[in-house]
Amino acid sequence: MLSHTHSATLLGISAIPVAVEANSGERGDPKVVLVGLPDAAVKESLDRVQSSLTTGGFNLPRTRVTINLAPADLKKEGSSFDLPVALCLLASTKQLKSQLMEEFMVAGELGLSGKLRPTRGALSMALLAKMQKLRGIILPMESAREASIVSGIEVYGVSSLAETVDFLNGEVSLNPIHSSGLASPDRIAFSHDFEEIKGQLRLRRAIEVAVAGGHNVLIVGPPGSGKSMISKRIPSILPCPSLEEFIEVVRIYSAIGQGGMISSGDRLRPFRSPHHTISDVGLIGGGTNPGPGEISLAHNGVLFLDELPEFKRSVLEVLRQPLEDGQVTISRSAGKITLPSRFMFVASMNPCPCGYLGDSRNSCKCSIPQIQKYRAKISGPLLDRIDIHIDAPSLEISEIQSADKGEDSKTIRIRVEKCREIQRQRFCQYDIKNNASMPDSLVEKVCSLGEENQNILLQAMNQLSLSARAYIRILKVSRTIADMEGSFNIERNHLLEAIQYRNLDRKLI
Ligand SMILES: Nc1ncnc2c1ncn2[C@@H]1O[C@H](COP(=O)(O)OP(=O)(O)O)[C@@H](O)[C@H]1O
Ligand SMILES: [Mg+2]
Repeated sequence: MLSHTHSATLLGISAIPVAVEANSGERGDPKVVLVGLPDAAVKESLDRVQSSLTTGGFNLPRTRVTINLAPADLKKEGSSFDLPVALCLLASTKQLKSQLMEEFMVAGELGLSGKLRPTRGALSMALLAKMQKLRGIILPMESAREASIVSGIEVYGVSSLAETVDFLNGEVSLNPIHSSGLASPDRIAFSHDFEEIKGQLRLRRAIEVAVAGGHNVLIVGPPGSGKSMISKRIPSILPCPSLEEFIEVVRIYSAIGQGGMISSGDRLRPFRSPHHTISDVGLIGGGTNPGPGEISLAHNGVLFLDELPEFKRSVLEVLRQPLEDGQVTISRSAGKITLPSRFMFVASMNPCPCGYLGDSRNSCKCSIPQIQKYRAKISGPLLDRIDIHIDAPSLEISEIQSADKGEDSKTIRIRVEKCREIQRQRFCQYDIKNNASMPDSLVEKVCSLGEENQNILLQAMNQLSLSARAYIRILKVSRTIADMEGSFNIERNHLLEAIQYRNLDRKLI
């Protein structure tokens, strides 16, 4: 007898449909054969399935059964075929009614006792099930929670093979899981707040501009000036991601088996700060089991590289393309996969190896060649891709001793949200979320300058010997500063502030 159900295999972060079918009663020795380009983990599936059938009190087939994973030319990876294979085996041997099974997508790894373990990529599978217009998806309970964020299909969580069989036979009824609704940042208590930062008004302003427009930012200053401190507080002023943006984030984490961050119930943007010893693969993704790297894990959020010159030069160079494209393409033996990686890039560095160049209280001990060598670690093209460069001077003793609190994160976040709303409306017909990700073709239209301002910018370009890319960045940052004031036109003060944020070009190149 023939039976079939729907499942999927994960390619990068996308779920690719796989039909699982079984045919029993064939002539030959009683044996279960699995065909359809399975990888080692899928092949082992048969042993796990047969063990869970025995422990679950089901009968093993007494004839030859062929299980096929289709399409045959697609490599099937992972252990999530256990559950659909077991169900097809049971249906083909008439131990399970097969009608309901055909309306669902099914995935999950089985333990030897028949208990289900979570599966990677559950959210992408749920999105696929919806696209295929299936009635719903059946997943191990833990994975079902993260998949329930997808609306419009029934998501069922099960804990064992026996429970799944009872459900499909109509012997027990289960309720579909509904996402509990995710808390927006207004209801989340952040452990770090901007009010703890004393002084540093220019730095605070620059960070607010950067977050308001999604611009990349590099903070340069001596040790102890609060570079790490302010960067770690950026999550508390980031705008709440839309549900669509959040689903994109969870899909990526779901592909590495960490989609459970959903169950904590906070709708937050990711903030990634990898250590400077990270490898190219760790940052970009790929490797033998190609998966997302830090730049994709930071998608729709922030990638923070503290002490930028400490990172290997090769690592910094591979960052350039994704910074421009918002996505990364990874080569693998079975072809290429493209992963999203649109993030706000935040980096910090000292101005020189000893850290005290230009400091008012300590004198710098570095020679000029030492300083040049240190700065050459950050290439011109990488620097060009950072919209805002800002100095973080050492705090004055009086500022450190002051009991005055800075403005709190919530107040800043409200302003940021308002500015993002202007950008959302401006770009509503495009696939663009903020000023920073506006393509060059739109810059002329959206960031036009009056004649006088045009001249100011040309002068600055000559004096600072800025590249064409830096020119575009200044216009985008000016647009954000104008938006923060609710101004339709880019005025002189907006432009001048944006030019200031390129100050380091002159000093660093
Ligand atoms: N503006 C500031 N307001 C309050 N404390 C600060 C400030 N800047 C630095 N500090 C204190 O100095 C410590 C070191 O700052 P940190 O951010 O690590 O400096 P950096 O990364 O620039 O070397 C912080 O943990 C904090 O206690
Ligand atoms: Mg630091």
